[in-house]
Amino acid sequence: MSTAILGLQWGDEGKGKITHLLAREADMVVRFNGGPNAGHTVIDRGVKFGTHLVPAGVFYPDTVNVLAGGMVIDLGILREEVDTIAAHTGWAPKLLIAENAHLILPYHRLLEELEGSGAHFGTTRRGIAPTYRDKAAKIGVRACDLLRPDGLVKRLEWRLNLLKRQWPDSDEVVKLDAAELTEGLMDVAAPFIGSIANAAAAVAAALDEKQNVLFEGAQGTLLDIDHGTYPFVTSSSTTYVGLANSIGIPEPAVSRRLGVVKAYQTRVGEGPFPTELEDEIGSGFQQRGGEFGVTTGRPRRCGWLDLVALRYAVALNGATGLALTKIDVLTGCDEIKVCRAYSVGGRETDRFPLSGEVLEGCEPIYETLSGWRESLEGIDAVGHLPAAAAAYVATIEEAVRTPIEIVSIGPEPEATIYREL
Ligand code: IMP
Repeated sequence: MSTAILGLQWGDEGKGKITHLLAREADMVVRFNGGPNAGHTVIDRGVKFGTHLVPAGVFYPDTVNVLAGGMVIDLGILREEVDTIAAHTGWAPKLLIAENAHLILPYHRLLEELEGSGAHFGTTRRGIAPTYRDKAAKIGVRACDLLRPDGLVKRLEWRLNLLKRQWPDSDEVVKLDAAELTEGLMDVAAPFIGSIANAAAAVAAALDEKQNVLFEGAQGTLLDIDHGTYPFVTSSSTTYVGLANSIGIPEPAVSRRLGVVKAYQTRVGEGPFPTELEDEIGSGFQQRGGEFGVTTGRPRRCGWLDLVALRYAVALNGATGLALTKIDVLTGCDEIKVCRAYSVGGRETDRFPLSGEVLEGCEPIYETLSGWRESLEGIDAVGHLPAAAAAYVATIEEAVRTPIEIVSIGPEPEATIYREL
């Protein structure tokens, strides 16, 4: 059976742990969107990793790891990651890089700085938006271009000329040289050349053969370029609706769509956040939950769980089940709030607005639930959770009418409750 793992909030839901757990059974793991803006925390055999590009199957020897066409890849970061993981596992991971995936080049990061968009939107400053922009403008460089270095120099010459016309006063831009850039790129790409192939065909074949294929989403639904809180979004499709296109497979291929939701809300970067807590409760979540970006180290903004946003995300992804993470972080709260609806312009609504500007004006309407003080350590069944924690699980399930299949009560793989439904 194939499974897609999808973030249902603003990213950082704990997809890394869940993907790593499920990857154990997978023949193929396919990362389908984004780039090194993602930061997945994975604990493998007691060692903690913050991965950015590699799919979670790299921790298992026989799993094929696909970086799909919807991704943007920084080969320098990929190389560092692969080397670090190979030193830990003792084998080189099996990689398949989609020939149509776009490459992040040094000038993409530079552009984010020159344009000031990194500061304005609070991006991860990894060159994500400029790379996706080049893709749409048909001036990008793709993995398959590495197979024809002569053509690559010509493409880069043309691209750099354009860049120099736009930024004549930037010394860093003016000194960019196509031949030098190509040489550096070919050097860092050397170990990956044999892995560049038609990933869409490989994924389709694996699905045809009924292999266990795991699709690994990055970022979260509310950061989706089309369906998120625009313009405070990332530049790719983070949801199930974008998955098929990002890979190049027909839509009905994925039967299990597991949405990952954290027991509270977080957001990094700029943008509206109705349930944000700028008090000691929020900073408590931040400290106890280790809510600091894996990619940038920035503190994450924290708040109560937003069920309006969650209902929207569940519907958009067609989630068939949920994985609820970090419920242990709520231990010790006297009471717990969940946002059931918004008040906007004197009206009550349970609809999530598509515009970031409208969301800015939404006030949360809360329901208050009981908290619990008992530690959740070692609990292996939802029935053994403190009554208030079990009630919290039930409240979420009822609100979004979707079963919670997995409850994560700590960062380690063992701290996981699987439910028989
Ligand atoms: P970009 O993806 O670097 O362009 O950043 C756009 C927005 O998405 C910023 O608010 C980032 O903080 C946010 N973002 C991008 N990737 C992630 C992620 O993996 N987790 C959480 N937020 C992210």
